[in-house]
Amino acid sequence: MQVLVTGGAGRVGRRLISDLLARGDAVTSFDIATSSLEHPRLRHVTGTFDDAAASAAAVEGADVVVHAGAYMSWVASDAQRLHDANVTGTFVLLRAAAQANVRRFVFASSGEVYPETAPLSLPIAEDHPTQPRSIYGLTKLLGEEMVAFFARTTGMETVILRFSHTQDATELLDPDSFFSGPRFYLRARLRQQAAFGNTAVVDALTSHDDGTEKLLISRGRDGTVFRMPITDTRDLVAGILAAMESPKAAGRTLNLGTEEAIAFDVAVAHLQAVTGLPIVDVRLPVAAVNYVTCRKAAIEALGVRPRWTFAAMVEDAAWTARLKGA
Ligand SMILES: NC(=O)c1ccc[n+]([C@@H]2O[C@H](COP(=O)([O-])OP(=O)(O)OC[C@H]3O[C@@H](n4cnc5c(N)ncnc54)[C@H](O)[C@@H]3O)[C@@H](O)[C@H]2O)c1
Repeated sequence: MQVLVTGGAGRVGRRLISDLLARGDAVTSFDIATSSLEHPRLRHVTGTFDDAAASAAAVEGADVVVHAGAYMSWVASDAQRLHDANVTGTFVLLRAAAQANVRRFVFASSGEVYPETAPLSLPIAEDHPTQPRSIYGLTKLLGEEMVAFFARTTGMETVILRFSHTQDATELLDPDSFFSGPRFYLRARLRQQAAFGNTAVVDALTSHDDGTEKLLISRGRDGTVFRMPITDTRDLVAGILAAMESPKAAGRTLNLGTEEAIAFDVAVAHLQAVTGLPIVDVRLPVAAVNYVTCRKAAIEALGVRPRWTFAAMVEDAAWTARLKGA
């Protein structure tokens, strides 16, 4: 099979490309960033998704497109860049894919199309109202609408996968990582909240900062500990691989990711067992992030059940770190 993977230099794209090459497929990677992956069956197209010529070059010969590339940011000043990459970019790519007679287009959407931070009911299933609360989530919802339009009007098979929050296991132990840094490490959270301009949260955290690294347990203003799904990239990619081919997935919108929602006090205990860092437990002046997502439809349609728990991810990351240090 010939597969176009957009975002091939990213977390999900890299892993997906490796797995596709390992099973014998020919792959095109389309990304604005350069990737270190090299293989005789791997072709690179460098450019942005909203560049029609680059998108046309990328889709050439593809049986299946996995549109895993996107810009991710929650900084207010990035709104236009989010729209260009995720809305205009997805539109341009969809047109190119339809013109190139791509058989199936798999779209990486996000749980952020729901109001994950203020769900109306739990667990969040696919029929939960879509009410994004970030510009990023809005761009993903607009992407879904465009994917549905092209499915309707061109006959191209499409699958919309609403990805869980997803990380490489090694990121969990890295205070400088994009997601786990601000999620579990005090100083990274302080920097992130300062960049967002959330002064009340910065004030709540500052008194705990003595300049040394600490793990952070986040609670909402009512004392509820934060809790959410954190999926291992390997599980997400197993689902994507199935979505590329499963007849049951065609035309569907599916929540993809772990069935586990990890409470942050439990998560931080796992991280402390490995890092030995001290823990601060902080009540933040915000509503607690506290949700769990229903994965039944994806497990049934794709025939793949996620297998990485948070505890197993931390154990695996610690093992990887020990091997690197050895
Ligand atoms: N990781 C998560 O927690 C998560 C959760 C929900 C949805 N998603 C979605 O899953 C997909 C993969 O996420 P990831 O974690 O691999 O993200 P990532 O940031 O690691 O990778 C995204 C890639 O897209 C590329 N890119 C961004 N804008 C581009 C543009 N305009 N033109 C060309 N390339 C561009 C980046 O260079 C990057 O390599 C994305 O669509 C993301 O929105 C991710």
